[in-house]
Amino acid sequence: MQEKGILTQMEVKISEKFLKGFVSETALEVIAPEIEAAQKKVLDKSGEGSDFLGWRDLPVDYDKDEFARIEDAAERIRNMCDVFVVIGIGGSYLGARAAIEYIKSPLYNTLKKDTPDIYFAGNSISSSALCDLLKICEGRDVCVNVVSKSGTTTEPAVAFRIFRDLLEKKYGKAEAAKRIFATTDKARGALKGLSDRMGYETFVIPDDIGGRYSVLTAVGLLPLAVAGIDVSSMMKGAERAREELLFNTDINTNDCLKYAAYRNVLYRSGKVTEILVSYEPASQMLCEWWKQLYGESEGKDGKGLLPDSVIFSTDLHSLGQYIQEGLRNIFETVIDIKKSNDTVVIPEDPENVDGLNFLAGRELAWANDAALTATLFAHTDGNVPNIVLEVADRSEFTFGYMVYFFELACAVSGYTLGVNPFNQPGVEAYKKNMFALLGKPGYEDMKAALDARMN
Ligand code: PA5
Repeated sequence: MQEKGILTQMEVKISEKFLKGFVSETALEVIAPEIEAAQKKVLDKSGEGSDFLGWRDLPVDYDKDEFARIEDAAERIRNMCDVFVVIGIGGSYLGARAAIEYIKSPLYNTLKKDTPDIYFAGNSISSSALCDLLKICEGRDVCVNVVSKSGTTTEPAVAFRIFRDLLEKKYGKAEAAKRIFATTDKARGALKGLSDRMGYETFVIPDDIGGRYSVLTAVGLLPLAVAGIDVSSMMKGAERAREELLFNTDINTNDCLKYAAYRNVLYRSGKVTEILVSYEPASQMLCEWWKQLYGESEGKDGKGLLPDSVIFSTDLHSLGQYIQEGLRNIFETVIDIKKSNDTVVIPEDPENVDGLNFLAGRELAWANDAALTATLFAHTDGNVPNIVLEVADRSEFTFGYMVYFFELACAVSGYTLGVNPFNQPGVEAYKKNMFALLGKPGYEDMKAALDARMN
């Protein structure tokens, strides 16, 4: 393991060095009262959508019996199957996938391991994606976790029909029921009803936790435990973040508040697109999770920062050009992971064909750091402000901490922006049109109106 520096305080620490010249020296002081008011809404549950603040105390107030049941089910699943299929969309899969890739590897399925392969289904309506996965399952033992709070979302519901059918044909109804696990509402909804009738083991998505804030509930915990991830350590990381960040109202010492503040300061200065940057491909799905969290929480009422993401240095060879010289309405938030999981030393080449012998003996992580620093200078020179978030490592503990950091910052930032960070009314628009076009009963008038617009 290579360490770049020891973090003495938090697992996620902000560096403001590359904001110099982009925000005034008094910017934090000026916005502090608004941030304080937004944090207060989270603390005393007085803001819009406050009945969805269950994630706030989750790290200390989770159902311990269910937690034990999750670990027990995970062990059974590991013993029962080669392939574990997690069916869900949006907040019902992004967090679990992000954690597996961040903590384990984006190549988790292909690496040698003693835990099942984990695939995600029901997050699109692509026949090819589904058929490829069905082929992967051929001749292998399969378990399924269907995750849907409402139980009626079309994408996962369709995928679940297909996998349920597959399991019932392969194992018979009784055995299939032992291989199907449902994570859904505790009492309501079509999925809960079906699970109770069929005898599937169920786990709960609490009423007061929305999909995009649910990774530390059974939604994330069951797939992660199946992957052999230490979910207790992850919860401890989130608990530490809660202790350090939730109650500290001093913007100068609370980096979570600072992050929420700088996003709003930059937004008000015309930097309306935030690009989350990581130099670690294992963070790709973390970026997708973050995009959903911030995009759904803030993009409404004609407002909101547009969340985008890149993996560098990969994307320095694609979007890098735009970031350096395109429209100047962007800022970057760089995740600087301080500890690399692995060590690779660049070898000496006696012929030095590529002229790179000056790097011989150096660790690749050192070169990656150089790319990070070089890019920070280049992009700030190109008029793109950079917030740097120094993240300790890729451990379970740090992941849990980071999840809480981003969730709390999102709530505070959303309230500062003047929106309800916990609803997503805009997601319904496409759904209604799709139901109409698919011929769902009750949508006949809408279908006629859409058909008329098509012609
Ligand atoms: O964050 C959210 O609330 C959404 O992304 C939902 O998670 C997503 O729409 C899936 O909904 P459900 O879990 O009800 O199937």
